[in-house]
Amino acid sequence: MADLRNTFVGIKSPNPFWLASAPPTDKAYNVERAFKAGWGGVVWKTLGEEGPPVVNVNGPRYGAIWGADRRLLGLNNIELITDRPLQVNLQEMKQVKMNWPDRALVASIMVPCEENAWKSILPLVEETGADGIELNFGCPHGMSERGMGSAVGQVPEYIEMVVRWCKQYTRMPVITKLTPNITDIRKPARAAKAGGTDAVSLINTINSIVSVDLDTFAPTPTVGGKGSHGGYCGPAVKPIALNMVAEIARDPETYGLPISGIGGITTWRDAAEFLALGAGNVQVCTAAMTYGFKIVQEMISGLSDWMDEKGHRSLDDIIARAVPNTTDWQYLNLNYVAKAHIDQDACIKCGRCHIACEDTSHQAITALVDGARHFEVIEEECVGCNLCVNVCPVENCITMNALPAGSIDRRTGKPVDPNYANWTTHPNNPMARQAAE
Ligand SMILES: Cc1cc2nc3c(=O)[nH]c(=O)nc-3n(C[C@H](O)[C@H](O)[C@H](O)COP(=O)(O)O)c2cc1C
Repeated sequence: MADLRNTFVGIKSPNPFWLASAPPTDKAYNVERAFKAGWGGVVWKTLGEEGPPVVNVNGPRYGAIWGADRRLLGLNNIELITDRPLQVNLQEMKQVKMNWPDRALVASIMVPCEENAWKSILPLVEETGADGIELNFGCPHGMSERGMGSAVGQVPEYIEMVVRWCKQYTRMPVITKLTPNITDIRKPARAAKAGGTDAVSLINTINSIVSVDLDTFAPTPTVGGKGSHGGYCGPAVKPIALNMVAEIARDPETYGLPISGIGGITTWRDAAEFLALGAGNVQVCTAAMTYGFKIVQEMISGLSDWMDEKGHRSLDDIIARAVPNTTDWQYLNLNYVAKAHIDQDACIKCGRCHIACEDTSHQAITALVDGARHFEVIEEECVGCNLCVNVCPVENCITMNALPAGSIDRRTGKPVDPNYANWTTHPNNPMARQAAE
């Protein structure tokens, strides 16, 4: 049986699946249920400083994007950090940690960008027995207008400064949670590292308006006739999150910095992809909010079965395995050639591949052969773009086949050479460089 035990910045958990800081981790009742269901850890819903209460809207907080089958693809929220009193949260965290010593419990914190504010809250959190802290530099709405959350996460100097304070005033490991609402994610990650962070976690939610009510002409969710931008998450954001995780994992300046991967993780496969791209563990929010806490059981069994099948004995066998294969465009092999192939037995003759290719691409798929509907790839025209595969409604009906070394691409007349540039030893690969030093 594959060993799913995980140690992240010294914090142990029985599996790599943590619940991200959000409503599922807002109170002891939820977290107890989550641990019973099998979650390896939680990042408690973000705590703020003691003082005027945080007040949420009393109307709709969420908007969504759905697939054709009404499956939730993207969730948008305008919720703030916890609106429960700090002392109540701290007491509950202490009790939960005592009840579940083998699970990870991390406190998410967001207080004003002042040294004293951080200095005062850290001992209170430490007293709960929490395993670590996560600095919320990510929330893009509500708190950011007050100079917190993503307002800090968008300024690398502030990140470095606050991380430094936290490292100075607590012995707990510090995880810096980054906002994706920034052009180059490597900059805040580098700043966090410069401040001495133990890890980064990402992504928090993405600035978004999910829709506009065309009767009232107001963005949704609409609160009393007005809407504001919110934070987007769920399956739709996974590709953005994966890329940002990979950017940090392969940046020579942050290479080796532990990463907690977050963003759209719904299945064990999503989690495995984050781990492969360099995450040391993963955090989940929307999937738990959509399907309930027991979804973790499928994640655990799925990951474990796959690892057994592939002969991966522990998470270390997977973590960062895809990083060496993630490169910049200029290192892609232009002598590698693939051509689309349509399985005539599987083809339902809908013609979507033809029309996509004919109208918008390379005119490389027939529609009629001898007067009958027949969809076939014209190899001399096919550039191997993969659009037909993506628009075909039948899975595996159209596949991309790589031409073998030495054959001639009938479109260009040039020989095929799939064995060019080995990225593993490429000088631009941080791992290769480190190995060489
Ligand atoms: C309703 C809601 C509230 C959230 N509140 C917080 C929060 O208080 N602190 C925080 O760091 N992230 C918060 N998040 C962001 C999540 O922790 C997570 O980073 C994001 O949702 C992406 O993960 P997902 O795609 O699995 O949902 C919140 C997300 C949602 C949906």
